Amino acid sequence: MDNRPIGFFDSGLGGLTCIAPLMRSLPNERIIYFGDTARTPYGSKSPDTIRGFARQIAAFLIQQDVKMIVIACNTVTATCLRDLQQRFPQLPIMVVIQPAANKICAICDEKSSIGIIGTKVTIKSKCYEALIHQKRPELQIHSTACPAFVPLIEEGIIENEIMDLTIRHYMDNFIRYYKIDTLVLGCTHYPLILDNLKRIYPSLRIVNPSEEVVYRIHQVLEHEQLLADRPVGDHTFYASDLSENFVNMINRIFELTEFRVAFKNFDLTTT
Ligand code: DGL
Repeated sequence: MDNRPIGFFDSGLGGLTCIAPLMRSLPNERIIYFGDTARTPYGSKSPDTIRGFARQIAAFLIQQDVKMIVIACNTVTATCLRDLQQRFPQLPIMVVIQPAANKICAICDEKSSIGIIGTKVTIKSKCYEALIHQKRPELQIHSTACPAFVPLIEEGIIENEIMDLTIRHYMDNFIRYYKIDTLVLGCTHYPLILDNLKRIYPSLRIVNPSEEVVYRIHQVLEHEQLLADRPVGDHTFYASDLSENFVNMINRIFELTEFRVAFKNFDLTTT
């Protein structure tokens, strides 16, 4: 048993989409979240820049004595998973991409047409294709970057015709041309537009990596004997810029839960 918190991080709000399913399935676990809201989005930045940010945040979470780090960001996973694992070998580092790739391998067949959407960096890395094709080389996969989604979501422009038009701009032709039937939300911000996607493309089967990772976290905590046996303290949400949107989004995601949260501003540039 280990009652220390689990550390999550993302470039901003996106990683929060992993937190609600985690709280539902592992209510004893406590969370420390870091959203790099001052430097979001990561998805159009260079791999070197992203690596520098990710090292800084992982070191910060380790200082907070977390028992596990969850990289709740596809872009960081695609660019620096190995680097972080080499630098911080003392604790398990979990990612969203592998569990989602496993899910695709389990539910798709050679007739499926799989679409991956994500940031420019994630799509360029072809990380989903590589993992899926390792196990199922026959699966047909197509991918496209949707770089305007993250800035709109960070601005809270979600239930809005601007978001719907942006979705159609990136996805109408992609879905029609490749006859996509299964879509992977390859960015942790995208579950926040899940309702828009379901309304615009009702027949799509959607795989949400933010939910898939929770099963894997559970398995690893159990296997490593790191599960908490009782909740100790509050969940804490740090942001490099504690913006109104960040606080509003946390309140919105957790409004129906009984969980108490604490907010902290943390300026990474002073470390
Ligand atoms: N939420 C992130 C991801 O999963 C990053 C988005 C961004 O900052 O561009 O890729």
